[in-house]
Amino acid sequence: MKVVVIGSGGREHAICKTLKKSSKVSKIYCMPGNAGTSSIAENIKIDLEDFEKIKDFITSNKLDLVLIGPEKPLVDGIVDYLESYKIKVFGPNKIASQLEGSKTFTKNLCKKYQIPTAKFGIFENSKDTINFLKDCNFPTVIKADGLASGKGVYICNNKEEYTIAVNEIFGGKFGKAEKILVEEFLKGEEMSFFVICDGENYKIFGTAQDHKRVLEGDKGKNTGGMGAYSPSRLESSELNKKILNKIINPTLKGLKELNTTYKGFLYAGLMIINDEPFLIEYNVRMGDPECQTILPKLKTDFLQIILASVNKDLKSIDIEWYEDKCLCIVLCAKGYPEVYKKNEEIKNLNKINLKDNEFIFHAGTLKKNNQILSNGGRVLNFVVRSGDFQFSRNAAIELINKIDWNNGFYRKDIGYKVID
Ligand code: AMP
Ligand code: GLY
Repeated sequence: MKVVVIGSGGREHAICKTLKKSSKVSKIYCMPGNAGTSSIAENIKIDLEDFEKIKDFITSNKLDLVLIGPEKPLVDGIVDYLESYKIKVFGPNKIASQLEGSKTFTKNLCKKYQIPTAKFGIFENSKDTINFLKDCNFPTVIKADGLASGKGVYICNNKEEYTIAVNEIFGGKFGKAEKILVEEFLKGEEMSFFVICDGENYKIFGTAQDHKRVLEGDKGKNTGGMGAYSPSRLESSELNKKILNKIINPTLKGLKELNTTYKGFLYAGLMIINDEPFLIEYNVRMGDPECQTILPKLKTDFLQIILASVNKDLKSIDIEWYEDKCLCIVLCAKGYPEVYKKNEEIKNLNKINLKDNEFIFHAGTLKKNNQILSNGGRVLNFVVRSGDFQFSRNAAIELINKIDWNNGFYRKDIGYKVID
């Protein structure tokens, strides 16, 4: 089978690498990909907003399957578009993708189906928002409605902070803002919970915990994710049951009543408080870097799972996993998530001999004249699977020490809650 993976991050490199293990995969394309994907797939440079060009490439090369990694094309309706040309696509349609694309869509669904979540209010202008905030307790959470790449969420402790948040959001910092969300602050422990769906049935696809803040001790600005580990230390069969019954099932029921279904990965960002799950947000894809810690633990043929989802046949397969732990450290360009340099050479990468349980997934990298250059904020993911989180973390740091690049930085404390 000829498969194309859409995206260019560490998640997409991990997806390509896992697909490559399947004997049924004859060729992988990655659109647009990175330096890492170029060694196992053919990178295709096409603007991801140009659905027609993407479709033309797929049909003229007679590709059998498309996997969509990131949220933007999903929220923009790429699945509906490609399916209208009878192309097989793994990912949710435009209506279902509002679970990530519109926080107010998800909050209203939570309200209608009594899905546990933070109490909230939705406002359409700064005056009403500020009026409401005057009587709120601190901390309080303020969010832009649309996609904001992990940014656009403010935890505010006083009037000054909420005034900045409201002004920045309505001022268009995260794109045109028609609505703002004010939420109760939930105090608990976060967990990323994944399922894979085929429109009728679903299966659990692992748990993980990411570290979103840029500095050690979970301090500083929010980022796309500085590292992750899987499984989450909170996972238990009892908690899984509660998450499915109170959150996933009513969500899928709600979509059904909107005359649609969910196909693809669904990622529930949860806050666990006293063993009870609360939904913070949905994402309509795998997490990045969570994906890089979950796929290395998969035993079952990944292509077979994806095909079962696309063919509404998930019921028929058992997904098997290694019992191991997996931990990922993200190496970033100094300055991320603010201003950072690009186009710096990263030396020694190709000299590292990886063991079977070690992985380097590229994110913001580019290959030019046989050199690997940095090309983004999050640059490389160092992942180790083993029986022990501490071992994995030490081994990942050893790998980082082998490369020659002065302008990177990383968090040495990834997984501290399960290690220290
Ligand atoms: P989101 O983009 O909605 O996932 O929010 C980003 C991060 O902000 C989450 O991973 C949480 O750490 C934090 N957060 C968001 N909403 C809340 C909330 N209601 N209570 C506490 N923390 C929150
Ligand atoms: N790691 C968080 C995300 O993928 O949204």
